[in-house]
Amino acid sequence: MLLKVAPAFALLNTPKSTNGENLLTHKSFSAKSGNGFMVCASKGTNHKPLTGVVFEPFEELKKEFMLVPSLPQASLARQKYCDESEAAINEQINVEYNVSYVYHAMYAYFDRDNVALKGLAKFFKESSAEEREHAEKFMEYQNKRGGKVKLQSMLMPLTEFDHVEKGDALYAMELALSLEKLTNEKLLNVHAVASRNNDVQLADFVESEFLGEQVEAIKKISEYVAQLRRVGQGHGVWHFDQMLLQEGAAA
Ligand SMILES: [Fe+2]
Ligand SMILES: [Fe+2]
Repeated sequence: MLLKVAPAFALLNTPKSTNGENLLTHKSFSAKSGNGFMVCASKGTNHKPLTGVVFEPFEELKKEFMLVPSLPQASLARQKYCDESEAAINEQINVEYNVSYVYHAMYAYFDRDNVALKGLAKFFKESSAEEREHAEKFMEYQNKRGGKVKLQSMLMPLTEFDHVEKGDALYAMELALSLEKLTNEKLLNVHAVASRNNDVQLADFVESEFLGEQVEAIKKISEYVAQLRRVGQGHGVWHFDQMLLQEGAAA
């Protein structure tokens, strides 16, 4: 019997059986992929199913439909997003904010009239803003997945960054390097949580948006530390600071 199929399954080439009979009966459908037919499933008694699989969207949809939350407090978008991932994201938001806060304190220190290392002030100001952006990116992602952003308290950063042997520039830059490495560890922890819970989307988000950039930041600050160790204190630091003033990138 020739059939009426839904437009979505309408085919350019109607498959034929060996005796020339049309295979498309009222209980079967075929899906076209690329140049040929990929799937042909049938429940008909006269024709053997090729895969034994029939996609029944309205049957499969029933389960999801029952799970759509009706409470106004519950996210509608949330799907396969576990509590552990939600908590890990909130923790990372706190890490990024804390790092941003420390960099902001460094900016304020180097901008003092009696310190006046404008290049370092600029570098740490931009770095602080960048870490806050990272926190916001995680906030957006939390909302995207249907989690709830819970902000936690931040620690009070140092006020003075001078160090007897290292001087302020090297001391602050070494501190920045440790912070970036710590952030990297925390990011890897978020990734591990995602992997443990088979959350491929969260793992992809951390990989594509953060992990590469974090390695770049660690490399750059390591070079700054090496350069500051070379130039020593005083005049050398002034030149280093001038170089930072010309450059544009934050940590
Ligand atoms: Fe960051
Ligand atoms: Fe960073």
